[in-house]
Amino acid sequence: MLPTIERQPDAVVMIDQRKLPAQEVYVHCKTANEVAKAIKTMVIRGAPAIGVAAAYGIALGMQKSKAQGTREFAVEFNKLCELMAGTRPTAVNLFWAIGQMKKVFAAGVQAGESVEELKARLNAEAQKIHDDDVASCQAMGRFGAEVVPPNARILTHCNAGALATAGYGTALGVIRAAAEQGKVQGVFADETRPFLQGARLTAWELVRDHIPTTVITESMAGPLMRDGKIDFIVVGADRIAANGDFANKIGTYTVAMMAKAHGVPFYVAAPLSTIDLNTPDGGAIPIEERNRREVTHVGSTQVAPDAASVWNPAFDVTPHALVSGIITERGICRAPFDQSLAALFR
Ligand code: MRU
Repeated sequence: MLPTIERQPDAVVMIDQRKLPAQEVYVHCKTANEVAKAIKTMVIRGAPAIGVAAAYGIALGMQKSKAQGTREFAVEFNKLCELMAGTRPTAVNLFWAIGQMKKVFAAGVQAGESVEELKARLNAEAQKIHDDDVASCQAMGRFGAEVVPPNARILTHCNAGALATAGYGTALGVIRAAAEQGKVQGVFADETRPFLQGARLTAWELVRDHIPTTVITESMAGPLMRDGKIDFIVVGADRIAANGDFANKIGTYTVAMMAKAHGVPFYVAAPLSTIDLNTPDGGAIPIEERNRREVTHVGSTQVAPDAASVWNPAFDVTPHALVSGIITERGICRAPFDQSLAALFR
């Protein structure tokens, strides 16, 4: 499996996803600030992966704390949680992971633990978030593979693979599991402008796994569906609202509309940590806007004039009516999603 992120005694190490596929370079973050910067600048990206990174970043920062007593330690802990929460707004996994760290911290304080015991607790929780995410992806793969038709030509958007998680992937986990069962004829990877997660990362992962892969630009997905060349679509999610509306990489909405128009099954694969029952519907999901340069330039080449304005939302919202099913580690949710999603947490 791909080493997306790893905790070492003195650092959090991650593959630099900005440099793939041309270079495989690892970034060693030695402080919580460096981890936060890595999340913000997309060294690591993908909803579950940034949750894991935030948890490791908090554990690393607290490990290095020189606080003498639990009160001082708690002040530092809350600052680090705030630092991580300020990195990216849309993927709820980030806030979920910070919430998990806060819960175990509070339990340790409640139990009267020492600073050293609290440090151990935070390290263990971050590791657990990492390990649980891999297990969830594998479970999603097992459930999802069941709904992939035989000999499927699958389309996916962005990267919801091993690189976007602690390993194996959500949407790519489903594709990997289906491929292991001999059900996949090939995968179309949308290039995913402007950051090119599909062309650079998804294609890189699939090719490494010897799964036949064709890279297309977003505008090519519609004609492929019209010509009956896509049998199944699976994407990841950054936040799923209580009614089943979900945010994912910009362009997902257009793919879902095309799928509806052409009768292609459209599935979302995401762990429970992506489901946010406190957000009632897609309209309440905060959408990150990123800098203009991602749109005006491809690498170092300028492709738009300086005087042009740019709109660069990193995500869009797909209404639940366009979704065939939501694949989770506990099974597949179907409409009505407000009921099936709520049932997962009971
Ligand atoms: O901006 P990114 O690259 O972090 O966006 C990633 C996506 O939109 C993924 O599809 C999503 O996080 C699901 S990852 C399993």
